[in-house]
Amino acid sequence: MEAEKFLIRGACVSDASDMHELHARAVDAFCRGHYSDEQINVLLIGRTAEGYVPAIERGEMFVTESDGRMTGFGHATQGEVQAVFVEPGWAGRGVGSALLEHALRLAWRGHEGPIQLKSTLNAVGFYEARGFVEIGATEIDKHGTALPFVLMERRGEPPAEKQESDDEDRPRPVALDAYDSMAEAYAAAIEENPRSAYYERPALLSLLPDVSGRRVLDAGCGPGVMMEWLLAQGAAVVGVDVSANMLKLAEQRVGEAAVLHVADLEQPMPFLADSSLDVILSSGTLGYIQDWQALFREFFRVLRPGGCVVLSVGHPCSEYTLNETDDYFSTELREYTWRGLGAPIVVPCYRRPFSHMVDPMVRAGFSIERVVEPVPTEEFARVEPEEYAQLMRRPRVLCVRVRKPVNRA
Ligand SMILES: C[S@@+](CC[C@H](N)C(=O)[O-])C[C@H]1O[C@@H](n2cnc3c(N)ncnc32)[C@H](O)[C@@H]1O
Repeated sequence: MEAEKFLIRGACVSDASDMHELHARAVDAFCRGHYSDEQINVLLIGRTAEGYVPAIERGEMFVTESDGRMTGFGHATQGEVQAVFVEPGWAGRGVGSALLEHALRLAWRGHEGPIQLKSTLNAVGFYEARGFVEIGATEIDKHGTALPFVLMERRGEPPAEKQESDDEDRPRPVALDAYDSMAEAYAAAIEENPRSAYYERPALLSLLPDVSGRRVLDAGCGPGVMMEWLLAQGAAVVGVDVSANMLKLAEQRVGEAAVLHVADLEQPMPFLADSSLDVILSSGTLGYIQDWQALFREFFRVLRPGGCVVLSVGHPCSEYTLNETDDYFSTELREYTWRGLGAPIVVPCYRRPFSHMVDPMVRAGFSIERVVEPVPTEEFARVEPEEYAQLMRRPRVLCVRVRKPVNRA
C-alpha cells in the first residue's frame, strides 16, 4: 500500500495527554496475543501523561499528524530508538515506517555505530523488515511480572532526509557546517577571547534581569559558556543550537543541569510551550537567521507576558562598512573568513540594515527597552590595546533588550 501523507513534528508538552491515550490503545491493540492480559496491564500500569513531559522537553519525542489528528508518536535518544507507537486505525499506512526513519535519524545524531532497541514481541517482524536484526532477548521485571523483549540492532547509515514531511523544502541552516566543523576550536577560544570576555559579554549581562529561579532559553547557546553562567545564577536553563557538535561540548560543560535541543532557530520550537519562559538570551547568533519576523513571533509565543529577550548581534554600521556593500537597505547573505581558529573557515552570515532588526521585534509585539552600543572594558586595553582603540571609535556589536507587554498572552 502506498504511504499516505502526514506531518512529522517535534512533540510539544500539550501533546502529552494524547500520547498517553494513544500509547494505551496501541499496546492494547497490538500486544494482545503476544503477552498475557496480566502482562499487558503491567505494560501500561503507572503511566501518566506527565510522564512524557521530560522527554518532550529534551526534544526526544515526535509525533505524526494527519488532518490535525495525532496518528502516532516516537521517542529516540542518542544510539537508541526508545519507542514507536501507531494509532491502531492507522496501522499499515506508513506511519510506523515514517516514525522509525525519523527515530533513526535522531538516534544517529552525534552517534557512531549501530542503533539498538528493545522490541515488544509483536513488533519484531516490523523491525526486521526495516533492517534490524535480533541480537538477544531480555526480560524487564515490572511490579513482579516478567515482561519479555527482543534486543535488536541496525547497522549502516542514517536514512536519507525524508521527502514527505514538513522539512521537505527546509533550507540547510547557513552556518551549520561552519560551526559544526569549528566547534572545538571555537569552544577553546571563546571563554578568554577579549571580544567576548571584555566587550560583548559584559554588555549583554548588563541587560539581563535577575535570572535566579527563572526559566531562561539560550538561543544559539554554542558550547554553553553563557548557560554555565546562567545556571550558576540559579536559572533553569534550556539551550538550543543547530550544531550537534556545539551541543555535545555544551553538554560536557553543564552536564544534565540544562535541557539541550539540537534545533534550527529558523523553525518553530514545538518543544517549548506557550508562555513557558521568563527570559530569552541570544548571544552572537541571530546574524545566522534569515527570517527575524518568524523568529520574534516564536520568541513572543514562548515568553510569558512581562518576559524579555536580551540579544547581541553584529552592529549594522560595521557590518555595512566591512562588507563594502552598495545596497545598505537589503538583507543579504555574506561570507566572512574567520582566521585564528585553526585553518581559515568561511562563515556565512546575514547582513541587514537597522530597520530590518528592529521592525520584526516591534511587529511581533515587543517593546524595545534598552539599546546598547558597547565599548570595551579596561581589561581589553591591557590585552589588545590596538583593537581596544579601534573599538572605542568603531562599533562592532549591538545589544538590545525587548519585552513582551504584561497584558499580552
Ligand atoms: C557565534 S556562536 C555564539 C555561541 C554562544 N551564544 C556564545 O556566545 O558563545 C553562534 C552559534 O549560533 C549557532 N547557530 C547558527 N545558526 C543557527 C540556527 N539556524 N539555529 C540555531 N543555532 C544556530 C551556531 O551553531 C553557534 O553555536
